[in-house]
Amino acid sequence: IKMSEDSGKKLTMVTCSAPVNIAVIKYWGKRDEELILPINSSLSVTLHQDQLKTTTTVACSRSFQEDRIWLNGKEEDITQPRLQSCLREIRRLARKRRSDGEADVDTAGLSHKVHICSVNNFPTAAGLASSAAGYACLVYTLSRVMGVEGELSEVSRQGSGSACRSMYGGFVQWIMGQQGDGKDSLAQQVEPETHWPELRVLVLVVSAERKPVGSTSGMQTSVETSSLLKHRADSVVPARMKEMIEAVHKRDFTAFAELTMKDSNQFHATCLDTYPPIFYLNDVSRRVINLVHRYNHHYRETKVAYTFDAGPNAVIYTLQQNVEEFVQVVKHLFPPETNGGQFLKGVPVAPTTLSEELKQAIGMEPMVKGISYIISTKAGPGPRVVEDPSEHLLGSDGLPKESA
Ligand code: DP6
Repeated sequence: IKMSEDSGKKLTMVTCSAPVNIAVIKYWGKRDEELILPINSSLSVTLHQDQLKTTTTVACSRSFQEDRIWLNGKEEDITQPRLQSCLREIRRLARKRRSDGEADVDTAGLSHKVHICSVNNFPTAAGLASSAAGYACLVYTLSRVMGVEGELSEVSRQGSGSACRSMYGGFVQWIMGQQGDGKDSLAQQVEPETHWPELRVLVLVVSAERKPVGSTSGMQTSVETSSLLKHRADSVVPARMKEMIEAVHKRDFTAFAELTMKDSNQFHATCLDTYPPIFYLNDVSRRVINLVHRYNHHYRETKVAYTFDAGPNAVIYTLQQNVEEFVQVVKHLFPPETNGGQFLKGVPVAPTTLSEELKQAIGMEPMVKGISYIISTKAGPGPRVVEDPSEHLLGSDGLPKESA
């Protein structure tokens, strides 16, 4: 926390970062649009912030005229309902703490306006869901500025459903809850990121031309029109959640991988069952699905799993011992156009050679330019405070620094 004197006015500033998460049991469909209450529970892996994160600085000062927000260098509309929900809820919790006489609550943020500045360390154009990391980071940073502690997933959930799972590291479930007020619709850590160090994640960034239907409106249409979605939420997900938690506890990769692929496929089936139908997968996505099944079949073992969200990018889960070969397979089938050295970002993966036997077994023709790059990562921790003041995204004038 930084207190600086700016023309005689106190400025309180906090910077935090928060992770992206990728669901293995998908959230799709709300029972309450306003509070963002889901029709089924879900489970995700929090990805490491070294590769994918949002960083947010919140400043508050008596001199600020109004609440303002800048996202990736551009000022955005703060009156947006979901931003307002998060601001209102954190301020309410801060007021409650103060009236409960708890601790030395920094009351500054209560009466003062805030300036918020947020950036991603990955290109927005990559089409990676940034709303989860974004809202998790916003809520976490606001809570630190205003001296709020404790359960915060209930607040970040109201920014974006999937954001509640980014409040924890490792393996996280979002329990759907039963209550109408959403007080029991919370995220909970199933296992920390240290639980399964061999688990690796590859994000295959697919070169897409068009922006697909957003998840908020997509799932709304699905709830209204898909009977498959209702069946999924009522009869499939509850048992799957139990099995998935069990697989994670036991580090049973086969069970984890098969459930992950089946759940991704069922989610995309509900999209097709939506009327009019929604298509998130493209030709490249389907080639990746085929490739994974052929690879696993060749070894008569489930070594690799895929999952897809509301876009064509594939997220691959595998174990350490298979990463080198599988990345080589991807490079072989999706040869980078130019600049091969830039194709793999993140945790380094050594090149290897593929046996003719494996290439034969996969039996697919290479397709140029299908995948623009791979982000190699793993499970990681939840949100954190960034202590180094030079990392603040806002200057002492409360405005974004040049770089933000
Ligand atoms: C396919 O959390 O983006 O990624 O709650 O409307 O903001 P809103 O939707 P959002 O939906 C994520 C959908 C998903 C599956 C998942 O992350 O569980």
